[in-house]
Amino acid sequence: MTNNRVSITSARFAGWVTRREGRKFLQLSDNYPQPSVPQGKAGRDDWASLYIHIPFCRTLCPFCCFNRYLLDEVQARRYFVSLKKEVELYAERGFRFSDFYFGGGTPTVLMDELLGFLDFLKKNFNVRQISMETTHREITPEVIVALKKAGVNRLSIGVQSLDNDLLKAMGRLVGSGEEAVEKLKMAQGQFDTVNADFIFNFPTQTIAQFEKDVVTFKELKLDQATFYPLMPSPHKKSRLERRFQKVDTSREKVFYDVILRELYEGGYKASTAWCFSRGDRLIDEYIIDYDDYVGVGAGSVGFLNGDFFVNTFSLQKYDELISGGKLPIVSWRKLSEREHLRYYMLTKLFGMALDPEKFRARFGADINGKLFWELAFFRLCGLVKDNKQIEVTPQGMYSMCVMQKEFFAALNTLRERYIEEQI
Ligand SMILES: C[S@@+](CC[C@H](N)C(=O)[O-])C[C@H]1O[C@@H](n2cnc3c(N)ncnc32)[C@H](O)[C@@H]1O
Ligand code: SF4
Repeated sequence: MTNNRVSITSARFAGWVTRREGRKFLQLSDNYPQPSVPQGKAGRDDWASLYIHIPFCRTLCPFCCFNRYLLDEVQARRYFVSLKKEVELYAERGFRFSDFYFGGGTPTVLMDELLGFLDFLKKNFNVRQISMETTHREITPEVIVALKKAGVNRLSIGVQSLDNDLLKAMGRLVGSGEEAVEKLKMAQGQFDTVNADFIFNFPTQTIAQFEKDVVTFKELKLDQATFYPLMPSPHKKSRLERRFQKVDTSREKVFYDVILRELYEGGYKASTAWCFSRGDRLIDEYIIDYDDYVGVGAGSVGFLNGDFFVNTFSLQKYDELISGGKLPIVSWRKLSEREHLRYYMLTKLFGMALDPEKFRARFGADINGKLFWELAFFRLCGLVKDNKQIEVTPQGMYSMCVMQKEFFAALNTLRERYIEEQI
């Protein structure tokens, strides 16, 4: 078999296993324990990160699989009040954080509330890093100054594509490709890391359109780009949305090869299988940087020492639970040891390397004993190689891309059900 065939076949198999594992992972219970700080971690702020979900946008993109609502200012202001209370509930339970990741939605839609929230974090925690998502439409010189002053280190700007025909076909009303380029230029150099998000494998997207996007990104000399493979939104209802219920994966590898050719072999380093950076940069994958993370906000998830927690997706329930002094968790699962090991392996390999020493520190065992069959498969197919760490090879990159996509796709199925049923 040619290298390309091996790469596609192993990616399909690894993806299939991940999909099955992902479905099991998400068999949740609504009878959950209170999240607690593990023994030996009390008073420390370096073992778990905090993900903060701001679920409001000025317009809604039909392909989007995250928990997001059309901005209603009154509702959003109330939400920020609840969000602070939720963080306080964690602080009362002894949680301390230093790294913060804001995702959405569009966290910058109400700048005064966001800046107030950042102040609140600084008063309560020793803030080290802040990563913030936004769209290019939100970026102005004033917003840049305010975010910098508030200590934002990494700004991630959703672009999706620079091609106006494709943006129209996507139903993305955020602004034109030309505006996106102008805003990216405005932000570049203003933060430790500026990232641009793109999506590939849209139904009508041509390889040539995508190549042009990647080349333009390179010419802009931006710090970083994240390329998301389009993930299905299985429950979506409107005519435009229904186009994203299923995704044709037959062309996905061809798109991915464009990224590898233009960036990976063109001087950019793979921070993850989706994220390519110039030099060492902050990434927004809190699931890679940290083994444990707490999620706050409606529609966020958290992972603490083998326990997976899901917050309510409903804005109304979110406010009600918090006003009653309760954490807004609605679902939970304790992972089995094997699931925990595999989840750990998946997230670290997505981040390009598994460190046997860190594995031993977390699980108290040798990685080759605990993950013998999984690693044997990866090694046999040439997807990883052994150096000081177990590193993903260029041939293994597509498999890691597919595995992560399958895991997120399983999570999206959950997201969409929770949105639809307002759980
Ligand atoms: C939650 S959004 C927040 C960014 C910002 N609101 C924006 O749209 O520019 C983060 C990223 O997720 C990606 N994304 C959203 N829906 C997706 C889907 N169905 N498949 C793949 N990626 C998706 C997009 O690249 C987007 O920039
Ligand atoms: S892609 Fe971004 S702007 Fe569009 S709906 Fe999703 S979160 Fe909102």
